[in-house]
Amino acid sequence: MRHLITLDDLSNFEISQIFRLADQMRTNLATWSGFCQGKLLATLFYEPSTRTRLSFESAMERLNGRTLGFADPHAASVAKGETIADTARMVTNYADVIVVRHSFAGSARVMARYANIPVINGGDGSHAHPTQALADMYTVIARKGEVKGLTVGICGDLRYGRAAHSFALAIARFGGKLVHIAPEGFQMPKWVLTKIRYLYGGAPAVSLHLADVIRELDVIYVNRLQEERLPADVDPETARSSYLVNADVMRNAKSDAMIMHPLPRVNELSYELDEDPRAAYFEQSANAIPTRMALIASLTGLEELILTQPPGREITGGGEPCANPDCVTAFENYLQPEIETREGEGSMTSCAYCGVIVS
Ligand code: NCD
Repeated sequence: MRHLITLDDLSNFEISQIFRLADQMRTNLATWSGFCQGKLLATLFYEPSTRTRLSFESAMERLNGRTLGFADPHAASVAKGETIADTARMVTNYADVIVVRHSFAGSARVMARYANIPVINGGDGSHAHPTQALADMYTVIARKGEVKGLTVGICGDLRYGRAAHSFALAIARFGGKLVHIAPEGFQMPKWVLTKIRYLYGGAPAVSLHLADVIRELDVIYVNRLQEERLPADVDPETARSSYLVNADVMRNAKSDAMIMHPLPRVNELSYELDEDPRAAYFEQSANAIPTRMALIASLTGLEELILTQPPGREITGGGEPCANPDCVTAFENYLQPEIETREGEGSMTSCAYCGVIVS
């Protein structure tokens, strides 16, 4: 059985297979529309969501599957103190595949460990958002042909933005050149930068202001400030002003640049750009459907056709407790530390749950 907790769970070949399947599902839905007949997708959303939950539900129903779940954890047993492990064991009996969104980094991995059905990470705290990165990469490839050789600017809250983390890792992995544009205090975390350096080589360029680098960018990927994770002493309006994307700023951008945003937007991306042919953010949300359909189908019946070259992972138990205060291991006390070792430029070890570097 396979899960999608981070994009490291898929090999490059498998990602290309999922994209090929997504193409077919987009253009020839009738062939696929019965694929999940009789199957159930559980959507367990402990954090707010519009696009991710609705697009997963839409994807499942377009495959003639059905959905159940919750979008308000206050109405579920977690409000009574139920652990992720127990929820996972229970939902295993109620559904065939799970999508989970939760505020702890590494929470989706806990769900996967205790569920006996495939688990998809719909966003785990400020860690990762792999299905958003799949839809984002699919959108880039649809317009640009390939990621390799593109200069991709990622701007906004790179510290807490999980969509930004997964997208940056994906772009580096597929040969894009990264430029990180973040206000003071919102820079990309060390674990993402270390991973990029060790596994894919090089270091992203860094800028404090979008205006300084906009001319070079093929892709301008904007993120909102994650206000729900913001320290109390930060003024969101001041932080936002350094990377505001509007028509004035876009006058200096390439004529075939792409403007992307995982949405929702909050004052960092002007509505006046919605009719600009470079705007690709509604394409991204539309592409969430075929990519999520392809992923669900791959995990619930097409494993032998699509998921044929799993990447090797080396994970061992033991060691010190994870130092990240937002890691799920700090909250769910039945969990033991686990570390993953990766060989790249030297050897890198990180918490197998939240990705934070151990050494
Ligand atoms: C993102 C998320 O929830 O991480 N939204 C989404 O899934 N499209 C981005 C965000 O909330 O800023």
